Amino acid sequence: MLYKKVAKIEEKISAIGMGCWNFGGQWDNAVGDNTTKIVHAAIDKGINLFDVAPVYGFGKAEEILGRALKGGMRSKVLIASKCGLVWNDRHVVSNNLKPESILNEIDQSLQRLQTDYIDIYQLHWPDNNTPIEETVSTLEEIKKAGKIRYIGLSNFAQKDVEEFMTMIEINAQQSLYNMLERNTNSYHDISLDYKTEDEVLPMVKKHQQAFFPYSPLFQGLLTGSFKRGGNFSKMDIRNANPKLKGDLVEKYYEGALAIGDFADKIGRSLNEVAFNWLRQKEEVTSIIAGVSSIAQLENNINSTAWNLTEEELREIEIIIEPFRFI
Ligand SMILES: NC(=O)c1ccc[n+]([C@@H]2O[C@H](COP(=O)([O-])OP(=O)(O)OC[C@H]3O[C@@H](n4cnc5c(N)ncnc54)[C@H](OP(=O)(O)O)[C@@H]3O)[C@@H](O)[C@H]2O)c1
Repeated sequence: MLYKKVAKIEEKISAIGMGCWNFGGQWDNAVGDNTTKIVHAAIDKGINLFDVAPVYGFGKAEEILGRALKGGMRSKVLIASKCGLVWNDRHVVSNNLKPESILNEIDQSLQRLQTDYIDIYQLHWPDNNTPIEETVSTLEEIKKAGKIRYIGLSNFAQKDVEEFMTMIEINAQQSLYNMLERNTNSYHDISLDYKTEDEVLPMVKKHQQAFFPYSPLFQGLLTGSFKRGGNFSKMDIRNANPKLKGDLVEKYYEGALAIGDFADKIGRSLNEVAFNWLRQKEEVTSIIAGVSSIAQLENNINSTAWNLTEEELREIEIIIEPFRFI
């Protein structure tokens, strides 16, 4: 395993991390009973970052991760969880970064994760109805109490990140980033107030923050296994991604095919190329892909054993240029 180090976080972080959204059962191929084996295999192979959130499976993903880390595993890893997306009895989700909500969320997360601290606590999405100062004072309170170690912002406009930084240390950022979604302005049906490549990466570099690109494989599109037009069951959360169905998917699918052809040419798999392209960027600290099997995990880790050459990177740049701003 390769590790990366940023000034704002004490530990070295594995270049390949693990996204735990699909532990919660909202994806096809939900890992279910296999999760513990996948988590243990990941730790054995040197992965030390697990990205999760309360809203993934409405508490289930955190619970499953907490169970898998019992028996001495907890101290070997960094847990990056989140707050700010809460749900009601009918599982309708809303944004909430008010003090009382965060105070409630952190204790629930600690309980589900069976731990007394979260390493990197990330605000999942902005809440425009709560003044930043209120959120910051609550983060200060729970950090002082030892419940969280580092603070991360996910999906925030960089002007807001700057405002946060005048009040509190921001150690990490997380945003949507992959070969075909570089400065994209939407995620599922939500419009994004940031451009990852042009705004988030320079900020992260300047302030030596950790950066975790989410959906690094475009939710499976940047793997060889994706079928044209989507191939998900009704319950799969990917049905909520307009870029994976209808006319839009055609455009992205063509992009994935072109990268796949390039991968064939150099004797690698599409997902390995997608991983290397991200990993070779100095701003990218850990790629938090979801996996549904140990075989996928191993395949992703293989991408740390070789590098795309400068010339290959230039060739790739030409292939993905049409996707730079869409
Ligand atoms: N902060 C945020 O707002 C936010 C938003 C989204 C995600 N995230 C985080 O980012 C993580 C990853 O993003 P994501 O889950 O959206 O998508 P992703 O990592 O781009 O895609 C994950 C899917 O890719 C497929 N895959 C992975 N490795 C593979 C391999 N070697 N070969 C073939 N297929 C492979 C699997 O699909 P199958 O299951 O079909 O096999 C897997 O479920 C999440 O788990 C979560 O922690 C954060």
